[in-house]
Amino acid sequence: MASRALHHTSKKLAASSYSLASRAVLSLLCAVSLYLCFSLFRKDAVAPPSLAYSAVPEKINGNCNYSSGRWIYDPTVRSPPRYDHTCKEIFKGWNCIAGNKSNAVEILRWQWKPHGCDLPPFDPWRFLEKFRDTSIGFVGDSLNRNMFVSLFCALKKVSGEVKKWRPAGADRGFTFLKYNLTIAYHRTNLLARYGRWSGGTSGILESLGYRDGYRIDVDIPDGTWAEAPHFHDILIFNTGHWWWAPSKFNPVTSPMLFFEKGVPVTPPLAPDAGLDMVLQHMVSFVEKNARKNAILFFRTQSPRHFEGGDWDQGGSCPRQQPIAPEEAEHLFSIENNGTNVETRLVNEHLYRALKGSKFQILDITRMSEFRADAHPSTAGGKRHDDCMHWCLPGLTDTWNDLLIAHLRNIRGRH
Ligand SMILES: *[C@@H]1O[C@H](CO)[C@@H](O)[C@H](O)[C@H]1NC(C)=O
Ligand SMILES: *[C@@H]1O[C@H](CO)[C@@H](O)[C@H](O)[C@H]1NC(C)=O
Ligand SMILES: *[C@@H]1O[C@H](CO)[C@@H](O)[C@H](O)[C@H]1NC(C)=O
Ligand SMILES: *[C@@H]1O[C@H](CO)[C@@H](O)[C@H](O)[C@H]1NC(C)=O
Repeated sequence: MASRALHHTSKKLAASSYSLASRAVLSLLCAVSLYLCFSLFRKDAVAPPSLAYSAVPEKINGNCNYSSGRWIYDPTVRSPPRYDHTCKEIFKGWNCIAGNKSNAVEILRWQWKPHGCDLPPFDPWRFLEKFRDTSIGFVGDSLNRNMFVSLFCALKKVSGEVKKWRPAGADRGFTFLKYNLTIAYHRTNLLARYGRWSGGTSGILESLGYRDGYRIDVDIPDGTWAEAPHFHDILIFNTGHWWWAPSKFNPVTSPMLFFEKGVPVTPPLAPDAGLDMVLQHMVSFVEKNARKNAILFFRTQSPRHFEGGDWDQGGSCPRQQPIAPEEAEHLFSIENNGTNVETRLVNEHLYRALKGSKFQILDITRMSEFRADAHPSTAGGKRHDDCMHWCLPGLTDTWNDLLIAHLRNIRGRH
């Protein structure tokens, strides 16, 4: 299910980013964007930052539950939008405006309204000012990349001088030079290190009949992010989709085989029990290795919205509007055991593992469950519908509003 979708994404990316033709186009685009950014900057130097942002009142109550609320339709789209389809970091399959998704602009007209407080769009200028000399790392799967890109595009729109680099094993990263603010994405599917395993003749797993699979070292962080806790001041983790991806980790032909301290865990564990072990080890690894005063977030699971079958069974997400609470219950309740049931199952594991830890939970699940309208769907350009990732601009912009509201509350307390 999820794995094929994720696979396609990464293959296409690899193919496109290394082709010479796209490099040529890229350098052209860079030249053009430098010019555009320069003119943008000059304009900003004269006019004050857009009132659409700076006029937003700072009315955030530290005790409010931002995750409980509803989506309200606002036909007057944010103007100017915080960024648009021309932001080059947007992966093609997520660029719903360029991909002509019929409701690509409509998606942006829905505003999240928490009960009892507001979650206004964050102000990118103020954010850059306030978080000077700060480094922010997103660690996780392509859904965390989706969130990272949203933040990048919002910041790039107001501060164009950017250095591209890859700190500490990151897949991609950027420093906003005027502010010395770095944001980076560290790609990891399971958080723990894993790789193909094919048995020998004598081991315990072989004696249990295993020949092929994936070895997952529950106590070793993936190399792509192992240095990230030393490097970043703010970290946002996620994992989830790949733990329920039987097309990659097939329980029969390519099962997950868990190792701890270098030896197989026996009896072999089901993936969800392996997830618990990995979370436990990774949480304590991060707590031990994080910088002093680091701020740690774990993002909850991002819901998929396949209806009428899973991704490889012709499932689709043709909705044009957010769904009603009853419909969300129908799609996601654990009792119903529907196609997208993993959403809340993953969260049960996360909440258990994070209880009593130094991590704050960034709860985006509930607000996202309503947004069946906000996936690329057929505009993703794949053979199957993409009902897992999110259109950009789109929902993950609101995830970043939530992240930044949390950060403001933390800084405000100090
Ligand atoms: C906040 O709201 C969400 C969504 O309704 C709910 O799942 C969660 O339990 C609430 N959190 C608290 C601390 O009440
Ligand atoms: C979207 O529509 C425009 C204008 O009709 C067209 O030029 C472009 O090729 C379309 N893009 C895709 C991905 O279909
Ligand atoms: C830039 O920010 C990093 C933290 O991300 C900090 O360690 C470094 O000292 C800063 N550099 C300057 C020149 O202030
Ligand atoms: C949930 O549904 C799947 C197939 O759709 C099935 O394999 C599994 O056994 C079901 N789980 C429960 C707890 O009913």
